[in-house]
Amino acid sequence: MKGSNAKDILVNNSNKEMSEMQTKNQVVDSIIQESLLTCIDLANSDLHQSALLLKKACLDSGFFYVINHGISKEVTDKAFEQSKKFFALPSEEKMKVLKNEKHRGYTPLYDQIPDPENQVQGDHKEGYYIGSEVPRDDPQWDRPFYGLNTWPNPDVLPGWRETMEEYHQEALRVCKAIAKLLALSLDLDADYFDSPEMLGKPISTLRLLHYEGISDPSKGIYGTGAHSDYGMITLLATDGVMGLQICKDRNAKLQKWEYVPSIEGAIVVNLGDMMERWSNGLFRSTLHRVILNGQTRYSIPFFVEPNHDCIIECLPTCQSENNLPKYPAIKCSAYLTQRYEESHLKFSSYKNKLE
Ligand code: OGA
Ligand code: NI
Repeated sequence: MKGSNAKDILVNNSNKEMSEMQTKNQVVDSIIQESLLTCIDLANSDLHQSALLLKKACLDSGFFYVINHGISKEVTDKAFEQSKKFFALPSEEKMKVLKNEKHRGYTPLYDQIPDPENQVQGDHKEGYYIGSEVPRDDPQWDRPFYGLNTWPNPDVLPGWRETMEEYHQEALRVCKAIAKLLALSLDLDADYFDSPEMLGKPISTLRLLHYEGISDPSKGIYGTGAHSDYGMITLLATDGVMGLQICKDRNAKLQKWEYVPSIEGAIVVNLGDMMERWSNGLFRSTLHRVILNGQTRYSIPFFVEPNHDCIIECLPTCQSENNLPKYPAIKCSAYLTQRYEESHLKFSSYKNKLE
């Protein structure tokens, strides 16, 4: 991985002055310094100290790094290697595992358009979704976000499925550790989210992404258009190529976008909209996007949402007489369906395109 280390981030901020000069002349987007995000050490045995630090990060942007997360470099490197092998396959081979109704499989270029107001075409990326594997003998296996994954032919990509399953399992473990800290930071029992009703059977999606090209915000061309994530927690591993930007104040007249640099060994984490709803808007689900500079870029986001039937409603510790719930309660699966449909081409429109 080519990421900078923590010291570099402080040094790199010296380009701030230049960025500020540029912004005076900029009409569309004000550009761009690097964001200094909090780093949470998951090996710290003082959970209350970590929860306090985390709370600050969640109030500020909902973006932070985790270190000592326990996902080994070997496991991460293997996932990136196998991801590259998949995207390097001929298009006909990739189309054999085209995304199905369960949101599993390959998504070609332009499949997603998260910010249609500012994008002239879909995202300049191709992807692959791997969801929660729920076997056929499970009574809930046919729920929309549960079921079986679709895999590339093992003769073409030996060991691919095993690599992705291992990463998926490890990433879920890290999300559960973060969920404990989130609960503490919201004055709840540590196991509040990591309970059978909430994260007993989570909807968790590993997504492989491959970006190519150059973005041009002034023309509406993006690697990934501006969006906030739908779910609870997202882990983001990247190959170290810059691209991710966040905008802490989405309502600002002149939006200010900051790069989030990769740090060797650290994972970027961000909260999604469900966490914002749960916390009654206290914790932030921040707008982010990917700007490409012509370099090929690979990333592996991992999205965690709670059980299919979990109701997302204002937490008991986030409401009072003077602070009533701002969002109506909604079932996790219903919320996800709505959000997926808003930002993806419908499955049927692929089939029409192919015919
Ligand atoms: C996403 C996302 C960022 C990246 O997939 O939701 O924000 O760096 N990805 O690929
Ligand atoms: Ni995102």
